[in-house]
Amino acid sequence: MQSQEQNFAVILAAGRGTRMKSALAKVLHPLVGRPMVAHVVASAQAAKLQPVVVVNHQEEQVRAALGGLDVRFARQTETRGTGNAVECALGSLPENGTVVVMAGDAPLVRTETIARLWAAHGDAAVTVLTAHVGEPAGYGRLVRDGADVPVRIVEAREATPTELAITEINTGLYCFDIAWLRAALPKLEAHEHKNEIYLTDTLALAAEDGRAHVVIHEDFSEVQGVNDRWELAMARQGLQRRIVEAHARAGVDFVQPDSVVVEHGVVIAADVMIGSSVVLEGQTSIATGTVVGPFCHIRDSEIGERVEINSHSVCDSAVVEAQATIGPYARLRPGSRVCTGARVGNFVEMKKSTLGPGAKANHLAYIGDATVGEGANIGAGTITCNYDGFNKSSTTIGAGAFIGSNSALVAPVTVGEGAIVGAGSVITKDIPADAVGIARGSQTNLEDAAARFRARKKR
Ligand code: UD1
Ligand code: CA
Repeated sequence: MQSQEQNFAVILAAGRGTRMKSALAKVLHPLVGRPMVAHVVASAQAAKLQPVVVVNHQEEQVRAALGGLDVRFARQTETRGTGNAVECALGSLPENGTVVVMAGDAPLVRTETIARLWAAHGDAAVTVLTAHVGEPAGYGRLVRDGADVPVRIVEAREATPTELAITEINTGLYCFDIAWLRAALPKLEAHEHKNEIYLTDTLALAAEDGRAHVVIHEDFSEVQGVNDRWELAMARQGLQRRIVEAHARAGVDFVQPDSVVVEHGVVIAADVMIGSSVVLEGQTSIATGTVVGPFCHIRDSEIGERVEINSHSVCDSAVVEAQATIGPYARLRPGSRVCTGARVGNFVEMKKSTLGPGAKANHLAYIGDATVGEGANIGAGTITCNYDGFNKSSTTIGAGAFIGSNSALVAPVTVGEGAIVGAGSVITKDIPADAVGIARGSQTNLEDAAARFRARKKR
């Protein structure tokens, strides 16, 4: 792969994936933060190959899923088998040279493996990667002659009992001599099964020319295809393990690595501790010294240094600055910003709001469309009434303000700097700086009335 001119990888992604029993095309199923086919594209690109993706089923969605990547597409007008799929991509390839063919449903294949196959290809017409498997189930079997020379690949559905007993399977990863392939593909005949043309039949043609080459791969789990939901789950587990291991080796501490979800693309600094059953998704970044407690769900959020996110908290499109404390059981909805050293406690919900540096909302509150100044204290049960059934309005709470428990701040409303709201108030008018706003029924004490009440009941 060291030559100057561009080399290509044809990625077969046109099939429906009937065995997935899904409305979604197989290659679009999400795996740790990107669709299945994007994993295959990424490992081809990392091997310095230009991907040519063969599409048909849900073509527009597949194109969209790979949007923004340097990928070419070839349309297979009818899904007439893997041989026909590669034929449809020939127009995107140079006349000569070597091409890699990959299955869009084998998302665990490593770049190193592609490179190894390429290096072993030499002047063969076909080099196929095989693996030995205990239970080869639906895979194509590599048939060798008495002298162990590869002669052809037989699909499981068409294999004789003797062939079915073969444990060496076709992984679906190949290198081809492009010029040879151009001549060979038109010679292939359709099989009775769905009238399909099998790419695997090229091996027998190459064997006749003495140009069929086989490379055996040790690790079957890496080359495993995804044909149903269980194989999808297994692939997800394998990819997840790789991601978590890479983070761990880079200094991230996982309390229970097998329990977490960390999507591709999440950035975690060294010396971060991730509790059990944590889910980290999308464009999330977590800075050093932060601890994420068990069962937290963080998506598309930016978490600063030495933050403490306690168990069962949710952060969605939120920013949490250094040394803030979140949760347990806090919910930061999109547009929330918790500034340096601020605290958001249990059963507090924030949306499109900023909690200023050192401000606190420690218990049971809703802060929506609000700006809370530095050092302000939001008492338990405070609600910003931001919605009147028609419009959203904002609340501004000045620095150092103190909102007494169980207050309703009816937006639009401003509580001035250093102002105090009496507990249980329904605040509908602005409160000037340093004033006390109180809006509740005044208290009446009836002397001895409780004792008289009890005495009456006992009679
Ligand atoms: C194929 C191989 C089998 C191998 C296995 C490895 C053939 C005939 N069989 O079987 O020997 O062991 O892969 O995983 O090649 N596709 C298209 N167009 C089509 C048909 C399929 O693009 O007309 C794509 C599919 O989207 C999929 C890939 O090719 O990504 C493989 O197709 P699939 O039907 O899964 O083949 P297998 O039965 O797994
Ligand atoms: Ca397959």
